[in-house]
Amino acid sequence: MEKKFKRTLITTALPYANGPVHIGHLAGVYVPADIYARYLRLCGKDVVLVGGSDEHGVPITIKARREGVTPQDIVDRYHKIIKDSFEELGISFDVYSRTTSDTHSATASEFFRRLYDKGEFIENTSMQLYDEEAGQFLADRYVVGKCPHCGNERAYGDQCEACGTSLNATDLIEPKSAITGSVPVMRETKHWYLPLDKWEPALREWILEGHKEWKTNVYGQCKSWLDMGLQPRAVSRDLDWGIPVPVEGAEGKVLYVWFDAPIGYISNTKELLPDTWANYWKDPETRIINFIGKDNIVFHCIVFPAMLMAYGDGFQLPDNVPANEFLNLEGD
Ligand code: 2FM
Ligand code: ZN
Repeated sequence: MEKKFKRTLITTALPYANGPVHIGHLAGVYVPADIYARYLRLCGKDVVLVGGSDEHGVPITIKARREGVTPQDIVDRYHKIIKDSFEELGISFDVYSRTTSDTHSATASEFFRRLYDKGEFIENTSMQLYDEEAGQFLADRYVVGKCPHCGNERAYGDQCEACGTSLNATDLIEPKSAITGSVPVMRETKHWYLPLDKWEPALREWILEGHKEWKTNVYGQCKSWLDMGLQPRAVSRDLDWGIPVPVEGAEGKVLYVWFDAPIGYISNTKELLPDTWANYWKDPETRIINFIGKDNIVFHCIVFPAMLMAYGDGFQLPDNVPANEFLNLEGD
């Protein structure tokens, strides 16, 4: 029998504030989420539709560098453009905030610190790619090279967009710096890792046994990740744009954008409902639905749920994660 819920929390993937939203975003995420929220409201249900801009991460710093402006200038510009587009299109968000808000910094810092204090991270020193000309480590999209899986010559240090594989920068063949084009060297650095392997049995049970009704693309991708075996994943980066790692000795390091962004759903709910936000996150009678695009599946179905389980304190996992495929335009 289908479970009855008292209320629904609908989240929509937080678009990066480094460009305008396009028709693929709208078709895949925001219009379906808006239709669903409007439908539930018409049925007289208790529902909140949460959105916001994702304002950290490497792509924003790359764009700022190219334009000779600051990352803050970039996110201020695009947050406004994106927010205005949603308003003009009539996407009925109850809140549309941003991950540079004070509420978000405090929430994400506290989240990291609690996991740190609970001993949920592994600290690991490893060799990472470093651009000697630019004088900085090359996180994620600061590295381009050949994908070790499909041979795509333009794969990024975090993902190959041709075959969809999630990568580490050091996996790339013939890596080059996206800043200077030079060949990076290896240099030692310390980071904090979330041991996803620890959460694998719980994730298997929750998804593979408990959510056979999920869309086949979502279920299938989760199954393939789980069957390959999960590895610890770094949740910090050497970067000067983001939320500082709230630990002594972590100068120059920030939270990985994919650590702080999904916490944005919580912060934005807090901004909307400062006194009652927890009802939407910690009550098993709340139905949580994450509308996303297909490249976000692993973060919403594996990484963020592992973070929530590690945090504990009653946080609920999503009931469904409807992810859409990409919209192809002109064969691309
Ligand atoms: O893929 C993207 O555009 C990401 N900015 C989505 C983040 S979703 C959530 F976790 F915030
Ligand atoms: Zn590839």
